Amino acid sequence: MSPDVYAILLPYCRLGTGDVWQDPLSGHVVGCGDATDTEFALSLVKNTARPTLAVHDPPYNLVAFERRSIDEYAVWCRKWIDITRDMLSEDSSLYVWLGADQRNQFQPLPQFMLMMADTGFEARSFITMRNQRGYGTQSNWMAVRQELLYYTKGRPGFEVRYTDIPKILRGYYKEVGGTVTENQERSRSEFIRPGNVWVDIQQVFYRMEENVNGCFAQKPLKAIERIIEASSKPGDTVVDLFAHSGTALLACERTGRRCVTMDIDPIFAEVSIRRLERFRETGKTGWQRGHPFERELDEKKRIDLSSGVGAEA
Ligand SMILES: C[S@@+](CC[C@H](N)C(=O)[O-])C[C@H]1O[C@@H](n2cnc3c(N)ncnc32)[C@H](O)[C@@H]1O
Repeated sequence: MSPDVYAILLPYCRLGTGDVWQDPLSGHVVGCGDATDTEFALSLVKNTARPTLAVHDPPYNLVAFERRSIDEYAVWCRKWIDITRDMLSEDSSLYVWLGADQRNQFQPLPQFMLMMADTGFEARSFITMRNQRGYGTQSNWMAVRQELLYYTKGRPGFEVRYTDIPKILRGYYKEVGGTVTENQERSRSEFIRPGNVWVDIQQVFYRMEENVNGCFAQKPLKAIERIIEASSKPGDTVVDLFAHSGTALLACERTGRRCVTMDIDPIFAEVSIRRLERFRETGKTGWQRGHPFERELDEKKRIDLSSGVGAEA
């Protein structure tokens, strides 16, 4: 977002740093603040049941932009990971989206994985979601993977989820209780499980209803809902310290969970709240070709919230 666009939007944001919005309908909480501010982050959950699930999507290109060394990045991650562990209930799950820059020693993925070793979280799965668009050159494999790490604390439940891809494999026989059964007879579902490589989720782009223009790091609702449904129960509290377009907030609303979320940037805190409100008013999950501030900026309707972001043509 260009500095000009940023200055235009800021006056329309209801939260400043340190402010909190309490949702009057479903009890969601949206804060504006720094995820490494222990006091502020913990204050967000003081009136909720302890969260059973955290789904974090931190910025992971800080190193690429030379704003932080990789060591500093790991130290920074450790802060919000410790806060998350203190917030979560005894039996809970943690998912973290990360990148692995193949142009730069795959950082920050290895540093993050090593940092997690003594945090009290147990490593459970290393999921890869296949993106449709990637980066690369003619002289390397195009990078289309999106890393997602799954950890647990204590012994949380796990609800098996299925894709909407029909199961077609036949002929795998196994004896169960003295009877030989065929693969499909033993199935609990006619659809395949996603496993730890997700190929069935469409990356968000501007033609999709859920697209929030200007939110270049938006994750697909389907991915967040899959995580929420696998690792929490209706009525549970779910925490996301890096809200951005509010995908976790909306996913919680749609799946009957309570979301506690925050963003350091007042504009993204506002976008998240507006996305929830728009969903309640219209049933729509995003703005597609419009944008979250289109009502106020009517005469500037063409304002480019995604400038410099490289939307697909
Ligand atoms: C990768 S995006 C999250 C995307 C989100 N999952 C979605 O689907 O829209 C990361 C967000 O973290 C926010 N952020 C960066 N540093 C932060 C910090 N220290 N505390 C809280 N939020 C921060 C950024 O403003 C950005 O909106």
